[in-house]
Amino acid sequence: MAPTEFTTQVLKCDPSSITFPSSSDEPQISSEATLEALKLASHHLVDLGQTVVFPTETVYGLGALALDATAASKIFLTKGRPPDNPLIVHVSSFKMLHSLLPPGYAIPKSYEILMKHFWPGALTLLFPRNPDVVPTIITANQPTVAIRMPSHPVARALIAIANAPLAAPSANTSGKPSPTKADHVYRDLNGKLGLILDGGACGVGLESTVVDGLHEDGNIRVLRPGGITVEDIERVLRKDIHDLGNIPKVLVHKRDYADEQMESAPTTPGMKYRHYSPAVPVNLLLTIPSLSGIEPTTRFSDYIGSLRKDDGNESVKIGVLAATDSKLWEFIQPEDGIVWCRYPLGPLAEPSVIAHHLFDGLLSLEKEGVHLMLIEEVDEDREGLAIMNRVRKAASESVRIELQ
Ligand code: TXA
Ligand code: MG
Repeated sequence: MAPTEFTTQVLKCDPSSITFPSSSDEPQISSEATLEALKLASHHLVDLGQTVVFPTETVYGLGALALDATAASKIFLTKGRPPDNPLIVHVSSFKMLHSLLPPGYAIPKSYEILMKHFWPGALTLLFPRNPDVVPTIITANQPTVAIRMPSHPVARALIAIANAPLAAPSANTSGKPSPTKADHVYRDLNGKLGLILDGGACGVGLESTVVDGLHEDGNIRVLRPGGITVEDIERVLRKDIHDLGNIPKVLVHKRDYADEQMESAPTTPGMKYRHYSPAVPVNLLLTIPSLSGIEPTTRFSDYIGSLRKDDGNESVKIGVLAATDSKLWEFIQPEDGIVWCRYPLGPLAEPSVIAHHLFDGLLSLEKEGVHLMLIEEVDEDREGLAIMNRVRKAASESVRIELQ
């Protein structure tokens, strides 16, 4: 069936009605409507082999049966996703994780620690692929498969009820910002799939951290920074590994190491393909003094002047995203020929709040019909690393500005 023939149904699910009693992988669901929605979603996935959109704690996912190549192929069709970009497989239990791994595979100690602290949660780990179980369409012919156990009750309950691992990329047309609300998905993919489960806004707001700990040196390579921070990973490894000489290093791709082979294969977002870009240009404003101090700087007022429309008659509508307490706001003043649309992202001292709002900010300003967005950089510590990873990819150009 062509992907545009669907009537898209949106069903609310109440995450607070779902619990996983300790020592059980089966959800208990107190809301009848939520249970019915989850059962219908499971029917779409398992019996019809269709895609279903569901909320996770990071972003909304476009799910399909991971172990059914025909079902999984619909994800690529619906998103317009290049086939050489592998998918993350989502599991609801450790038993399900083990069913995906090669027989007899011993999980590395570092992974055991990371799973103990961060699963279920916003951490994706690469494992060796079991070719007898995981179809090549999932891994894009990589020897590894990316797996995570989401903590969002709706996601975990859906996987448990379907009783099958679900492949799920972010539920957006390839290249667009990831959706953090059901409405974002509906606006983008309405008509291309049958069912969206609406579980409210995603808590983290950025995708999971993708980690490769399979190299012989035992080090942890962060392929994509995300909801679990590098600082968090370093902290738990230091806490749980008592032999100080054996604590793995945490290396961030492009910051701490380069990997030409990986960069030529698009195994992690944004390395080959356009990513996170709304329909209008995004310009990155660099305001944190650079270490080199030699880059040319433009006065903000001059920069704003350069954005006005040449003919002088029509106003330009500019969206601005910056931390709530940024100095930038003092310079966003009424100006002839400019209509400002402001989206304060959250306090500078709380990058997790900025992360939570980032994609909603890009998508809300797009919906408001701005012609251009300006986004101010943040420090690259904690969630700031993942925020700037996404912002750099969203931005078509950057300019170092002086606030005066
Ligand atoms: O938070 C998330 O991770 C969300 C939610 C829905 O779980 N999913 C998500 O999926 O962000 P996606 O497809 O948009 O990004 C996952 C990225 C892929 O782009 C891919 O580059 C990387 O994970 N990946 C998947 N399998 C891989 C593998 N075997 N080796 C290296 N990278 C892999
Ligand atoms: Mg994505």
